[in-house]
This record gives sequence, C-alpha cells and structure tokens, in this order.
Amino acid sequence: MSTNLKNPEKTPHILILGMGGTIAGLAPSPEKPLEYKAGQVGVGSLISHIQSAIPEGLSLVSEQVANINSRNLSDDLLSLLGETVRKSLLDPSVHGIVITHGTDTIEETGIFLQLTCGQLSHELGKRVILTGAMLPSNAPDADGPSNLLDAIKWASTPIDDCPGGIYAVMDGRACMAIDLAKRHTTALNAPLQSSPSSSAGLINPSWLFGVKAVQAAWIEDLPIPTGNEWPWVEILTSHAGARSETVAHWMDIEVKGIVLAGSGIGGFHDSWQAPLAQAVAKGVALVRTSRTGSGSTFLNIPEKDLPGCLASGSLTAPRARIALQLSLNAEKQAKKMGKPLTWQDFFARIVVLPVIK
Ligand code: SIN
Repeated sequence: MSTNLKNPEKTPHILILGMGGTIAGLAPSPEKPLEYKAGQVGVGSLISHIQSAIPEGLSLVSEQVANINSRNLSDDLLSLLGETVRKSLLDPSVHGIVITHGTDTIEETGIFLQLTCGQLSHELGKRVILTGAMLPSNAPDADGPSNLLDAIKWASTPIDDCPGGIYAVMDGRACMAIDLAKRHTTALNAPLQSSPSSSAGLINPSWLFGVKAVQAAWIEDLPIPTGNEWPWVEILTSHAGARSETVAHWMDIEVKGIVLAGSGIGGFHDSWQAPLAQAVAKGVALVRTSRTGSGSTFLNIPEKDLPGCLASGSLTAPRARIALQLSLNAEKQAKKMGKPLTWQDFFARIVVLPVIK
C-alpha cells in the first residue's frame, strides 16, 4: 500500500483503489491519444497529479489492486476487488472509497460491487465511487484528473442526504454503479449513457429518491465467490442466421449458465428452441435479455419461457451475466448451509430492483 500518512490505520482517510484502465493509460505521444496502452501509470502517481486541488485536510491512501486494460478483467480480480472493498468498508479509518477503473467493463464491476457490497456500504454510510477516463493520462485534455477529483469529493463530502452506497462519477455526473453501461466508443460520458444521473455536487431529488428505493430493496449482499467457485456463464447473441450448433457447442463443454442477448423484447432464433430445451433439461441456468441496449425483458414474452428460465428485467446482458454467476454461487453456498434456495430465488431479488427513471 502506498500512502501519504504515517498511521493510515488510525487517521481518517479516503482509500483510492487502482484497477488500471485508460485513466492510468499512456499514449506514445500527446498527439496520438488513441494509440495508448491502458493500465500503465500507478494510482499513487494519478493522485500526485491532482494533489494541489485536493481539499485541505483530506487524507488519501492508495492501493494498487491491479493495473490492467479492463477488457482483461477476470473472475479472480473481481473477487480480490470485492474482498478489498468489504475489508476497507469495515475499517473505521476509511471514510470512503474511490476505484479508478477501465471503462470497457466498468459495467460488470458496477453490478458486482452493488450485489456484493451494496448493503454493507449503505449500512455503514460510506460511499464507494467508481471512476475512469476516456483519454489516457498524458493526453492534452485528459479527463482522468477531473474525474478522479470529482470522485474523491463525492466519496468524502457530505452531499445533501446522499446515502452510503456504490456509485460512479464521470464527466461531471454521477449515477448508481448498477446503472453503468458503456454505450459509446469514445464519448467522455460513455459509461453513464444508460442512466439518468445527477451532476456531481448537485443532487437531482428524483434521482436521489430512486437511489433510496434501490437501497431499501437491496437488503442482503450476495457472497463473493472465491477463484474456483465462479460458475462458467456465457452470453450468446441471437442474430439472423443463428444455428442450433452454437448452443450445442456450449453444452458439450458444460457451461453452468447461458445469458441470451435476444432480439427485440428478448426473443431468440427458432433454431435455438430445441437445443436450449435440452440445455435446461440438463440443468443449465438460462436467462433472457435483449441485445437492443435499453428497455426491459419480461417473462413469457414474446413466447412462453422454458421452465426455470428467467427474464432479466432491465439488466443488460453483461450485467445479467454477473448477476447469474453470483446467483448460482449463492445457491451453492445456501445449499451448504441446508437452505433450500435456488439461483432463481437470488436472481429474482436482483431483477426487481427499482429502475431509476
Ligand atoms: C479499459 O477499459 O481498461 C480501457 C478503456 C477505458 O478505460 O476507457
């Protein structure tokens, strides 16, 4: 751990966890900002660049959890991040947490942290803020420094009555981390596209109402899987010309779950009907989502669902995949304790979380 404090375990501070991403990226020269490599600069160095703007009296401690391009995010790293966040939330000297992260898979990390640490952060009244950048750290107009500063302020300042929880801040706006979804390749606000959010520092009352509704509904965190407990779940996208062999292939290598990114309201190609029925009969967990990018997927629409199959509600395919992995693991852990709960019981709790409008 790198720190600017003599006794970090005693002095109240904001913990900055580095995961890598473009915010920690370096371009070969400032004129070629798109030819950068993500995850090159240490989180301590990112903080040192904004040191003069950090509010007086605010102490920061940094820890490098990883330094990767987030397209390479792994189950193991999610577990490590989740355990680090949980342990840090329970540390009385940590008043808030900022995570610098690549934006490509920040959507997955957002829902993972909400489902595994959301209740704990709310109960303890501490904010965990994900942030990132779309331009590398040495680009002339790098957006990382202002995003990091905004995130630190969000993590540290009493903002109206904004409760503890898992949030994201970028491009001067904030949202719940569960609402993150990168829907643009280059726009500075790309990961916040899907969410009606709030300007950093200026809370929109209807957004805050929605945040509180989500937090009231999320009353129990799910267990964090250890490395080999993560179930293998794949996303299959239905498309023109889809073939039955695609589903059959995944059955041969025994995936535990399939998330279907269906067309329209979550339908899939007729050629998948028979192999999917076989997969479900074999005990593979099946969740239907839509590839459209917005709106909800409902049960038994457009056709009657296979028995045991669930619809994803407003969850996108990447979010539904993490939710299904955590639900399958929660079922396994519940069984060990003699509780007759299924992955559907856990997944259903996630799907009904209120959508912030
Ligand atoms: C990454 O996700 O690590 C690279 C892209 C980004 O951070 O915007």
